[in-house]
Amino acid sequence: MTSMELPPQKQRSFEPTAEAQSGANISGMAAYRELASQAERDYEGFWAGLAREALEWRKPFGKVLDESNAPFYKWFEDGELNASYNCLDRHVAAGHGDRVAIVFEADDGTVTRVTYAQMLSRVSRLANALKRRGIQRGDRVVIYMPMSIEGIAAMQACARIGATHSVVFGGFSAKSLHERIVDVGAVAVITADEQVRGGKTLPLKQIADDALAMGGCDAVKTTIVYRRTGGYVAWRESRDCWLHEIVENEPDVCEPEWVGAEHPLFILYTSGSTGKPKGVQHSTAGYLLWAAQTMKWTFDWKREDVFWCTADIGWITGHTYIAYGPLALGATQVVFEGVPTYPNAGRFWKMIGDHRVSLFYTAPTAIRSLIKAAEADANVHPARHDLSSLRIIGTVGEPINPEAWMWYHRHVGGERCPVVDTWWQTETGGHMIAPMPGATPTVPGSCTLPLPGIMAAVVDETGQDVPDGQGGILVVKRPWPSMIRTVWGDPERFVKSYYPQELGGALYLAGDGAVRDKDTAYFTITGRIDDVLNVSGHRLGTMEIESALVAHELVAEAAVVGRPDETTGEAVVAFVVLKRARPQGEEAEQLAKALRDWVGKEIGPIAKPKEIRFGDNLPKTRSGKIMRRLLRSLAKGEAITQDTSTLENPDILNQLGQAR
Ligand code: WT7
Repeated sequence: MTSMELPPQKQRSFEPTAEAQSGANISGMAAYRELASQAERDYEGFWAGLAREALEWRKPFGKVLDESNAPFYKWFEDGELNASYNCLDRHVAAGHGDRVAIVFEADDGTVTRVTYAQMLSRVSRLANALKRRGIQRGDRVVIYMPMSIEGIAAMQACARIGATHSVVFGGFSAKSLHERIVDVGAVAVITADEQVRGGKTLPLKQIADDALAMGGCDAVKTTIVYRRTGGYVAWRESRDCWLHEIVENEPDVCEPEWVGAEHPLFILYTSGSTGKPKGVQHSTAGYLLWAAQTMKWTFDWKREDVFWCTADIGWITGHTYIAYGPLALGATQVVFEGVPTYPNAGRFWKMIGDHRVSLFYTAPTAIRSLIKAAEADANVHPARHDLSSLRIIGTVGEPINPEAWMWYHRHVGGERCPVVDTWWQTETGGHMIAPMPGATPTVPGSCTLPLPGIMAAVVDETGQDVPDGQGGILVVKRPWPSMIRTVWGDPERFVKSYYPQELGGALYLAGDGAVRDKDTAYFTITGRIDDVLNVSGHRLGTMEIESALVAHELVAEAAVVGRPDETTGEAVVAFVVLKRARPQGEEAEQLAKALRDWVGKEIGPIAKPKEIRFGDNLPKTRSGKIMRRLLRSLAKGEAITQDTSTLENPDILNQLGQAR
């Protein structure tokens, strides 16, 4: 049963247990409602109060929200602060220098602990080293690193000196890395010799070398290399340096660069429905405020907690809930280098037990694959491990099907831990619609209610509210502090993508469909309404994959669609027309493999189509438009029930309908 076929929500609703409610940061629905109505009564006052409490300001802000150049909203603009100071110095100054900031577990199980005082010293030394190499406030630095203490320190060091970082996920190819280095105008790249995951290595430095050799990267004067494995790397003396060498003689004190609240803390690329990835630009103050606040609200974070978010720092989840949110609060967190299935699919459960994790945050795709593994092998079942330390368990990245939700609730949460299904995006900076675990009754498959201050709504194509119970387009009606500020280098694209005229120009368009329940007003996300796919919680543009395919010398045309997949949520299916006759049998197999590898090289392994079907043509209207709706049905193996009378070449459906 899919979430859309569920009976009315109240039938399967889980109240927070008395234990979850008592002593919660937000305890009971009345407390939630009070906050939400505070925000409605005095929007600016509400946010100003949170910003004063959650952050330490060098210079206090006067004006809260500036809407004069909408939709380029500004928050707390005349205030000054530093993100790294807020994440490190202030905890050390408050006497918490000995508290463990990071419990790092390497792929092979080796554990390293760093305290706040040690982290401050590491970050300061690296920040000094960056400055010594001429990197300044406003410069962009690309970080292409594995999950590591060094990766987080690199982000923090950039923040400390006012440089804007742009982290590129280690799974992206040289070509994708190159595209981002050029678009962001990086002056430096921080990378590692190799990445280690699941016992396998990936030569990050070599990929970075390849990217930098592709041309147009002359601005990159420095590459800094973290030695993770000691594997072979090619070296260019004039440009390359070892991280451990450049920090060696640096002082461990570095005065933070005080920046304005709107100073770009980072740019993170994400896929859109058209063309190349968008550089989502985030602010310093508004972003950090929400990273810290949602830790307290959605995860009910308290000082004794051990937090673990399994995301990679290459994605927004790893930015907000690893590199910034937990540190902004002085939390202790687990950081993991490896993968959930190595050395076996019990790794997550073992680590929760070993580190006494109390707040756990992962993706539905991981849960689904671990369910499969646990069903096949009792030895990797969560029941084999001590999960008694868990208090709250969360999910993010894609809709979670109610079955997976129930399994998570039962077998991981012991029917005692609230499950927080958090809806948000790269662009929103932090959680938007999510339960407050000490207040909100949860419902499998629903991310429940907007957090206080977040004015989410469901509208039709003209921007009018639709009645509850009826599906529509998910929007946010008011700007909020952690929202995207612009698309780097392309303000027009920012306006067109997120504040389209069709909706009146004043509503933030998320790109997801949603329905709000008639009785509970709970939101259920129904998936993307644009040409963006969500594969294992990773966002992929169909156009990006199509462009990669047609860049291959044999390909004449390609159309990419998503198909529901039990484990990965969606899977990529590509329909391809070659410049030569349609291949069959063995030849088709070989070509499909070659094209998959090609896409892996062009974009990264995450974008490889699961299935490639070859045809003599694609289904097109008489005006030449590809009918993707039909392709989606074919990919699912459904019979075509849609009207095909406008189709120029209806016969092609038979050919494409046959999986190889
Ligand atoms: C898209 C954003 C948010 C961090 C990770 C992904 C989908 C995200 C949920 C959820 C249903 C979800 C949406 C959204 N999504 N969380 N809890 N339920 N769908 O960030 O790469 O920017 O992707 O992921 O489609 O638009 P992202």
